[in-house]
Amino acid sequence: MTALFTPFTLKSVTLRNRIAVPPMCQYSAVDGVTNDWHRAHYASIARGGAGLVIVEATAVTPEGRITPGCAGLWNDEQVAGMAAIAGAIKAAGAVAGIQIGHAGRKASANRPWDGNAHIPNDAPDGWQTIAPSALAFGGDLPKVPQEMTLDDIARVRQGFVDAARRALAAGFEWLELHFAHGYLAQSFLSPHSNRRDDQYGGDLDGRGRFLLETLAAVREVWPQHLPLTARMGVIEYDGSDEETLAESIELTRRMREAGLDMLNVSVNFTVPDVKIPWGPGFLAPVAKRVKNEAGLPVASSWYIGDPQVANQAVLDEQMDLVMIGREHLADPHYAFRAAKELGVENPFAILPPQYGWWLERYR
Ligand SMILES: Cc1cc2nc3c(=O)[nH]c(=O)nc-3n(C[C@H](O)[C@H](O)[C@H](O)COP(=O)(O)O)c2cc1C
Repeated sequence: MTALFTPFTLKSVTLRNRIAVPPMCQYSAVDGVTNDWHRAHYASIARGGAGLVIVEATAVTPEGRITPGCAGLWNDEQVAGMAAIAGAIKAAGAVAGIQIGHAGRKASANRPWDGNAHIPNDAPDGWQTIAPSALAFGGDLPKVPQEMTLDDIARVRQGFVDAARRALAAGFEWLELHFAHGYLAQSFLSPHSNRRDDQYGGDLDGRGRFLLETLAAVREVWPQHLPLTARMGVIEYDGSDEETLAESIELTRRMREAGLDMLNVSVNFTVPDVKIPWGPGFLAPVAKRVKNEAGLPVASSWYIGDPQVANQAVLDEQMDLVMIGREHLADPHYAFRAAKELGVENPFAILPPQYGWWLERYR
C-alpha cells in the first residue's frame, strides 16, 4: 500500500490517509465571524480527499488577530459559522481540525494582498499590539508592542481555554495550538523577542512557561480522547540552530508529558532577516529528529507538495502526517491527483461519487 494513503490513528480519531491540510488564513472574516467563503473553501478542499483539514489560525482574543479579516472564537456568536465549517469538512469524510492562536506583536497587520504591513494604531482598523517584551519585529511590522502584564498573560491563556471549549462545541475533533511563526507563544519562547526578567522570561523554564501553562490549561477542557496538538517553530535559521533545536525538543518533551499528542514542526519566523534553506522537503529531517528525540508523532510542511516527496517523507518515517498547503489552493482535489500519480488502486473512490463516478466511467 502507498505510505501516503495508509490510515493514521491518534487517540480516538482515525484519518483516512496521511494528507493533512495545514491551517491557511483566508483573511475574509468580519469581526472574527466566518461566512460563505469559508464554508465553500473548506468543503471543497475536504471533498478532494485529505484525511485532515485544519481550519485557519483563529484568534482567541480580538487583539490576537493577525489582520482585521482573521477568524475568531472569542465570543459565542462566532461558533455557528465554525460549526457549519466543521460540519462541511466532516460530511466530506475528513476530520475537522482547527488552529487557535494569538498573533502577539505581529497582529494588527494588513491582509497580505493589501501589503501585509502593520496598520497604525490610530487608523480605524488598527489596534495596540501586546507581546512578552516591548520589542518590535521590524521590517513591515515596526509597531512596538505593549509588554504584557501578568494579568494580560492570564487573560490570553484563558482566551485559549475558552476558544478550545467553543471549538469543541462547534464540532471540531482535532485542536492545534498555534505556538509557531513568531506569533505570541513563539515570541515568549524565543530569546529574540522575550527579554522579561520575571517568571515568564530568562531560561527555558521561564520562556517556555506560557506555552506549557496554556497547553495544560487547554488539556483540562479538551477531551482526553481527542487529539491536542501544537504547531511550533523549532528552528530559526539564524546561526544558533543547534541550541534552538535542542531547547525546542526539550520543551516538546515537557509538553508531551503535559498532554500534547503531536507536534506540527515548523520554522520560528521570530526575526525578519534569516537564511531559510527553502527547497523540497527541507524541514523533513528536522521533523524526524523531533519525532525521535521528543518521542511523539509529528506532522510537518513547507515545499513538500510533490506527491513523491510527500510519500517518501512518510515512508522514511520523517513524519506521520504531511501538511500540504498551497497545492490545495491550486487544486482542492490534490489527494485525488496524488493518488493517481502514486498508482493507488481505484483513486476515483477518493472523490465523492458526484465527481469520481464520472471520471472513472469516462476516462
Ligand atoms: C494563504 C496561507 C495562509 C496561511 N495561514 C496559516 C495559518 O493560519 N496558520 C499557520 O500555522 N500557517 C499558515 N500558513 C502556512 C501553511 O500552513 C503552510 O505551512 C505553508 O503554506 C507551507 O506549506 P506548503 O509549502 O505546502 O504551502 C499559511 C500559508 C498560506 C499559503
